[in-house]
Amino acid sequence: MNSIQLCCMLFSLSICSSICRHVVVSARKPSFAYTSQTHRSSSGPALVSRRIPDISTTFRAPEVSQHRGQTVCRMSTESTESVGLTDGGKSNSNTKMKDDTIIDWKSRIDISIAKSRKIRGSNYVQISTVDHATMEPRCRTVVFRGFMKDVPLQNPGAYGDCVMKMITDLRSNKVMELESFHSSGNLDRSNVEMVWWFPKSSEQYRIRGKLQFIGNDGPLYSYNESDDNICNNKEYFIAERKQQWGNLSDMAREQFYWEDPGISYTSTCAKGEGIPAGGRDDDGKVLPPPDTFLLMLLNPTTIDYLRLGDNFRQVDKWEDGQWLSTRVNP
Ligand SMILES: Cc1cc2nc3c(=O)[nH]c(=O)nc-3n(C[C@H](O)[C@H](O)[C@H](O)COP(=O)(O)O)c2cc1C
Repeated sequence: MNSIQLCCMLFSLSICSSICRHVVVSARKPSFAYTSQTHRSSSGPALVSRRIPDISTTFRAPEVSQHRGQTVCRMSTESTESVGLTDGGKSNSNTKMKDDTIIDWKSRIDISIAKSRKIRGSNYVQISTVDHATMEPRCRTVVFRGFMKDVPLQNPGAYGDCVMKMITDLRSNKVMELESFHSSGNLDRSNVEMVWWFPKSSEQYRIRGKLQFIGNDGPLYSYNESDDNICNNKEYFIAERKQQWGNLSDMAREQFYWEDPGISYTSTCAKGEGIPAGGRDDDGKVLPPPDTFLLMLLNPTTIDYLRLGDNFRQVDKWEDGQWLSTRVNP
């Protein structure tokens, strides 16, 4: 073998070795190569591109159980791709959680509120009443303005922090609808229901109870004649209303001087005639609350809670001076 032949042989050997090394390295790391490629593409290879550890946590066998003689098949609740009763919880990272703990609804909702605090509109709730004349439901959005603090009740430890604050206009239908039930003596049927959806944690609260409206002279009516709490503590409720009025933005205060809601539109309404700017006097001092301004309080008695993602449902009822919490089927 001459020197030229020797050179050619060494060169070929070097190329061969380089190819072999490349094949071995590629065989060791196929998933990384595929993953980075296919995550940018929406086409076929995505199916084979998942890293093996992901597959084991993402897909689980359905749980099969017996319930009242029927076979119930439920998909795993821990999957990162699990959905709730509907697709509502699909893309939410918080749906990973699975928490069987039963805690009272008030402690739970405090956490939900804290989690969603930064989302615009997270304090908008829907509240439904019944139109007494037609017995049809009526539903509308209102702003939740926090829980009352230190409500002077006989058993304040248990209920004192559960009363929910909102505001409304004396002239609105919800006030008249409940007034009709009250004046016809049909108090048992005057429950309302509020629904509150927390998108961040995929939770729904349906809160049932009675509404109280607090006006210039205190509560518009009491639900239980033998219960003196409201009447005895009239001053407390009046002070709360006054404080709420003062906390409102100027724009919000002005609404209570608008023309009667729901009647045909008039141009004076657009011009804002006769409306004190910001609900203030000429010196810029906030005026006393007008008769139209009501503090609206919801006294919850039943809370139906549902969390998508792991399909957890719990019902809380106020019974014999305490909250009874029960986990129920979703
Ligand atoms: C985002 C939003 C927030 C609202 N907040 C309140 C509120 O805090 N209080 C209120 O009485 N109405 C509020 N409204 C108006 C109500 O939805 C409803 O139109 C009004 O209360 C009259 O309803 P009614 O006549 O059926 O009682 C709000 C509406 C929207 C869209």
